[in-house]
Amino acid sequence: MKISSIKGFADILPGEVEVWQRVESTARRVLSAYNFAEIRIPIVEKTELFRRSIGETTDIVEKEMYTFEDREARGGDDSAGSRLTLRPEGTAGVVRAYVEAELYKIEPVRKLYYMGPMFRRERPQKGRTRQFHQVGAEVLGRSDPFIDAEILLLLSDFFSALDLNEPALQINSLGCSECRPQYRQKLLGFLKQKEDSLCANCRRRIERNPLRALDCKEAACIRATQDAPSILDSLCAACRDHFAIVQRLLRESQIRFALNSRMVRGLDYYCRTTFEWTTSQLGSQSAVAAGGRYDGLVEQLGGPSIPGVGFAMGMERITMLLRLKETVPDAGPSLYIVWLGDKARDWAFSTMHGLRRAGLRVEMEGDARSIKSQMRRADKLKALSVLIVGDNELSQGTAALRDMASKQQRQVALGDLAIELGARKAD
Ligand code: HAM
Repeated sequence: MKISSIKGFADILPGEVEVWQRVESTARRVLSAYNFAEIRIPIVEKTELFRRSIGETTDIVEKEMYTFEDREARGGDDSAGSRLTLRPEGTAGVVRAYVEAELYKIEPVRKLYYMGPMFRRERPQKGRTRQFHQVGAEVLGRSDPFIDAEILLLLSDFFSALDLNEPALQINSLGCSECRPQYRQKLLGFLKQKEDSLCANCRRRIERNPLRALDCKEAACIRATQDAPSILDSLCAACRDHFAIVQRLLRESQIRFALNSRMVRGLDYYCRTTFEWTTSQLGSQSAVAAGGRYDGLVEQLGGPSIPGVGFAMGMERITMLLRLKETVPDAGPSLYIVWLGDKARDWAFSTMHGLRRAGLRVEMEGDARSIKSQMRRADKLKALSVLIVGDNELSQGTAALRDMASKQQRQVALGDLAIELGARKAD
């Protein structure tokens, strides 16, 4: 019986995976230039971690998490530990690890990045899957606006390094514990007047989380909140200054951006600067990277009062953009050994092993086949060169080396093969 994969969970097959590898290695290079170190965190965490950090009244926590009861944890001293969740994002886990390992004790400022799968039970569509992959980065221990700008410069550099010039940047400030409560009241007052026009979901959580209404994708809610008060008019002096410096630094670095005061993001831990990079090329799932500041999160998760800011980008969306732009030619082996006769096969097998250990990508056939059929296979695999060796050639210590692009063929001494191929590899 054929067993298929789960809806929203995709394979990344050879032919596609090369684009992923390129995105990952570019990300590592740019992150390293910005002095980030990698952190690897578990895929499963206690449900409580996400409830507390992402927020009870967010779509993620209310309906999208893959949560299950863990038999091991049940009956332990931590009842909250009996429910586990596949991580829907990485920030909560990184902050949990930072607090748990007391990383702040040695050096409070930490720049950490991660990459890997995340899980959200959303309706799958183009650019949206239930298992998706993020490259994310978090800076803990810095509250200055320069680091917010640095994060945005990093993303801009990353897009340029991949030759993706299209993503557009939108930024907002969500204020702080000083000024947001006042804005919240103001917005609540406005929404109360429009309550009848809001969707059931927004009506339900209007008291607990009125800002969510600004993020709602329902046409009725978008219409009803069109004239909602802007948070940017309610910022306190400190938040206003912080945001002004971020904008100045972006302008001075020639990073184009637009202000979007309705952008509240889908997670509750944010304060001050938030941002999204979007593209017009992927339909409704337009955000390729997003993030912002979360100054209260470390403390909320049991650590000292240490600020944080970070981002995550969606690998599926970035690789889709790259695939729209280019087809990556899949590289073939540097050498394909075509053999004829038992002695030649044994020789080819051990020579292949030696060349592979020297770092070359080499392939050969295992079953006896005609030279023509082996050549056809070498062609199909896009081998750069082919060595043709029979028992006779072997006894003479030479074989024909064919360059598949130029179709030039020449005799080479078998003893010099590694040097011949090494020289080819270097040029
Ligand atoms: P987020 O906006 O929920 O933020 O996700 C960041 C990015 O992940 C999105 O912009 C999108 O590219 C990608 N993404 C999210 N959901 C899906 C999905 N179902 N399918 C494909 N791609 C998806 C966060 O996750 C925050 N942790 C970002 C952050 C880090 N903020 C501060 N530090």
